[in-house]
Amino acid sequence: MDSGARRKSRIVVLASGRGTNFQAIIDASRSGGLSGEVVGLISDNPDATALKRAKRHGIPQVVVERKSYPSKREFDLGLAQAVGQFSPDLVVLAGFMRLLGKAFLDEFPEKVVNIHPSLLPAFRGLDAQKQALEYGVRYTGCTVHFVDEGADTGPIIGQRVVPVMPDDTEDTLAARILVEEHSLMVECINAVLASRVRRNGRKVIICGG
Ligand code: GAR
Repeated sequence: MDSGARRKSRIVVLASGRGTNFQAIIDASRSGGLSGEVVGLISDNPDATALKRAKRHGIPQVVVERKSYPSKREFDLGLAQAVGQFSPDLVVLAGFMRLLGKAFLDEFPEKVVNIHPSLLPAFRGLDAQKQALEYGVRYTGCTVHFVDEGADTGPIIGQRVVPVMPDDTEDTLAARILVEEHSLMVECINAVLASRVRRNGRKVIICGG
């Protein structure tokens, strides 16, 4: 089969907010910089700007709200059902601000990646840029990793280093990191979709490219 006839990999994005990482994935896909296509957006937040971006680009969207489910497990199953209907090759968390449980992750083994705005394992969880400023680090950055049940604890696929300036505010630092997030995200998605990513326990090796 030649490459022109090969099926494009199917990417489903989960986003809770503004969706600039989601937009970066769409842009890369449409400009030929990404080997997959975004086939669906799922959000837990009906007011997410990411939903407007999906609409603008004709990408199907589904809202799955936590409050619609009596338990976390049932929410996870509802989310898995919403994602599963798109038959994804890869599920990308792009600013999705909820922990995913076993009920969700078991449905998509080795297929869920997340981006986090710090050099993990430093500054996991919320407000990573604020944590970095308060700690006084000279360098921080961003990390793309496989998702496990912990908060930003999964095996690391890629990282970018970003300097912290003496006069940085949370906003200026977040903006500097975000530029790197957008390109790291695309680079890591391409590596995973091309099967260039090998896992050996916690260690991830990227071959070729
Ligand atoms: C990004 O900085 C992303 O790394 C972060 O939320 C922001 C979403 O921005 N994610 C986390 O902190 C997850 N722990 P975006 O909606 O513009 O892509």
